[in-house]
Amino acid sequence: MVSRSAVGIVSTGRALPVSHVSNQDLETVVETSDQWITSRTGIKERRIVNSDETCSGLATIASKIALERAGLRPAEIDLLIVATVTPDRQMPSAACLVQANLQAYNAAAFDLAAGCTGFLFGLNVAEQYLKAGTLKNVLLVGVDILSPFVNWQDRNTCVLFGDGAGAVVMTNVEPGRGLQASKIFSDGHKAGLLYVPSGGSSSPASLRTVRERRHYIRMNGPEIFKFAVNTMVDSTLQVLEMCGKTTADLDYLLPHQANRRIINFALKRLGLKPEQVLVNIHRYGNISSASIPVLLDEAVEQGNIKEGDLLALVSFGAGLTWGAAVLNW
Ligand code: ACO
Repeated sequence: MVSRSAVGIVSTGRALPVSHVSNQDLETVVETSDQWITSRTGIKERRIVNSDETCSGLATIASKIALERAGLRPAEIDLLIVATVTPDRQMPSAACLVQANLQAYNAAAFDLAAGCTGFLFGLNVAEQYLKAGTLKNVLLVGVDILSPFVNWQDRNTCVLFGDGAGAVVMTNVEPGRGLQASKIFSDGHKAGLLYVPSGGSSSPASLRTVRERRHYIRMNGPEIFKFAVNTMVDSTLQVLEMCGKTTADLDYLLPHQANRRIINFALKRLGLKPEQVLVNIHRYGNISSASIPVLLDEAVEQGNIKEGDLLALVSFGAGLTWGAAVLNW
């Protein structure tokens, strides 16, 4: 029996670029080493798009897999949310391009920008529509193509990021299953910790902005590190409390994959065991909005997550933004 008030993820899919860029490859680009990157971040390689791969293209592939697994036709999707800060173009939205690719004619489609927390923001938005009963089927994609916005001469950032897409289908589910709680947060006062200076309406792209490398990501890594550990711990505890659970009830934590050391600190502060946290950062680096849906899709496919498992999803990102959710799988 399905209930209007219970909302869940009923299928997942992912798409990653074909090209692998290893730490050894980066040693030939900037002054860095596999040893530094591995010990400071946990990353061994990342996927980077080639000229044929796009934000909407990867999102479409991930979506088709999720739709097929849900047993839904594209025309049955009512709402298509693409969480991204790296759409193909300034306009139209990546979501409208994905809608056209899928021929999801009955869906309202829009992009949602919340940095690396985009997927959890999308989950929270979709939850409201499904709970209210105004929509039946939502396709939510987390996708980011960060490699074109990375300064490949800046070793502080170029080793961290990668490209990828993850998609989920959300519908109403049996009472007691699915989303138990979700909460999202923002603090625009911290916008200057992670941003791209130019390319937007306040500083449009020009010869000067490109010459001054103002179209690339600028980041205060150590400040974000501290912020990330604190907010990941706080928001996880908040959503657990919202649904009357504690860390002792959790089967798995699925944290945003930005830095293995951030994950380890959060894990320790939450009192979880290493086997309770899912990690794939060594293979993909930080893929922003795609991080959690790709991690979830792999865990489901590999049989690590089983029916009835209690999961906590938690993320942070540019904005700054952060958020968490608890799911009964
Ligand atoms: N190779 C070798 N040395 C490096 C490299 C590199 N790739 N990068 C930095 N260093 C050097 C620095 O220059 C510095 O050298 P110095 O002491 O001579 O000045 C030294 O290593 C230490 O630098 P720190 O910045 O203190 O290193 P830290 O341990 O903080 O690690 C890192 C840096 C990995 C960026 C870390 O701070 C971090 O992961 N922060 C979080 C970033 C993050 O999560 N961003 C994404 C947010 S999500 C989103 O919305 C996209």
